[in-house]
Amino acid sequence: MLSGNKNGIRRAAAWMLLGVMVCGFIGCGQKEDTDGKNEGTPEAQVTKGAESDVQVTQGAEPEQDATDTAPTEPAKEVRTDFYISSIDEEIPSMSEYWKDYFSIGIAITKGELLNDFKGDLIKQQFNSMTCGNEMKPDALLDREATKSAGTETCPVLKFDSCDEMLQFCVDNNIKMRGHTLVWHSQTPDWFFMEEYSNKPDAVFASREVMLQRMENYIRLVMEYVNTTYPGVVYAWDVVNEAIAPGDGGEDGMRMSDSLWYQTIGPDFVEKAFEYARKYADPEQKLFYNDFNTYEAPKRIAILNLVNKIKDQGNIDGIGMQSHIGMSSPTLLDYEETIRKFGETGLEIQITELDINLDSNTEEDFLKEGTRYKRLFFTFKNLVDNGEANITNITVWGLTDEGSWLNKDGKRYPLLFNQVLETKPAFWGVLMDDGIPLY
Ligand code: G3I
Repeated sequence: MLSGNKNGIRRAAAWMLLGVMVCGFIGCGQKEDTDGKNEGTPEAQVTKGAESDVQVTQGAEPEQDATDTAPTEPAKEVRTDFYISSIDEEIPSMSEYWKDYFSIGIAITKGELLNDFKGDLIKQQFNSMTCGNEMKPDALLDREATKSAGTETCPVLKFDSCDEMLQFCVDNNIKMRGHTLVWHSQTPDWFFMEEYSNKPDAVFASREVMLQRMENYIRLVMEYVNTTYPGVVYAWDVVNEAIAPGDGGEDGMRMSDSLWYQTIGPDFVEKAFEYARKYADPEQKLFYNDFNTYEAPKRIAILNLVNKIKDQGNIDGIGMQSHIGMSSPTLLDYEETIRKFGETGLEIQITELDINLDSNTEEDFLKEGTRYKRLFFTFKNLVDNGEANITNITVWGLTDEGSWLNKDGKRYPLLFNQVLETKPAFWGVLMDDGIPLY
């Protein structure tokens, strides 16, 4: 737990560390003293199948709750202050709360993870981690070493980008999602060229050479990670974002910006899963991961693809990234997609959840909390009804400030603000009674 006994010093240091002007953040002026009234319940936990554990508050009116309560029972206090400093106060743990259902993950960059305050919060809140960038091909491929010590079919890799993150997981008993092995993006063009050339007149390596490079790349990543940090990676995003209906590829595949598709052909996804299965530890789960999975043409193409790979015995799960908006997709469409993916019998993981809120009014923060709460309510129901084997929910970033969405500094998609205070979204994930479900 984050301790409150070093409050003053830690809080002051955090503000300095984060370089934040006290009045610069919208929520600060609206904060009230918690004075015990709204204290979290750090041991809160929801039990699988037990409906009564999740109390649904519609339009949460504290007074109404009080009148609805039987006279013999004490009135239940409903939270009204959502901005609790995770540095100063003990807050409930999301991974503890949902431990009977799924692991709760965080995508993080190395710089953020090595910040003491953020590291402490991550240890307390999450039991799964994804490297935001540090395990992607552009981080691991070493062109200089490949040119001098590699062969035409076998590149040389380096792991200094992700070593400390994997070690953090070892030290703190956190499991890692390996993200990502085969992706059209963040893989340097030279990797696809004869002699790993980076010149403008470089020509593509042959299909045969690229298949061997792919196999060797997957083998080298898995061998290193699994021997240096055994048991830490529990799932691999083997292929990321290969489907883009309308882009011209066979069966709805991405083609125009995918050098994997252009050098190997449409079966590159099947080959990637074949190699991944060959080198993965038997207990590691292999995932196909994509965004906008709830769009019908994309969903259909993904289903066709994963069913084919499932028949080959080389896939265990579907990753639904879930970079969503405040109103789109509708929860009906989203839920329907999970249900359809669930019908495959594969695991489902929500791998990159965030909500692209572009307003910082109190009202909109509450609405965001409601959307998070409804999402988790949906996940819970689907699991309880046996409609989907959802095994992990990962949020794509710790603070709004650090979100990949926040290029303009005006996005508020996550659960914590820049000074590591909880937002209503955090309490929504915890199904708190103070967050309306509708
Ligand atoms: O490494 C360079 C650095 O050398 C340079 O100084 C700096 C200047 O901007 O850029 C750095 O690269 C950035 C990289 O993140 C590492 O920080 C890129 O510009 C930036 O585009 C890149 O963004 C990442 C994005 O993937 C790129 O595809 C985001 O951080 C990362 O969160 C995001 O994650 C993806 C998932 O992997 C797949 N699904 C979508 C998701 C969001 O886009």
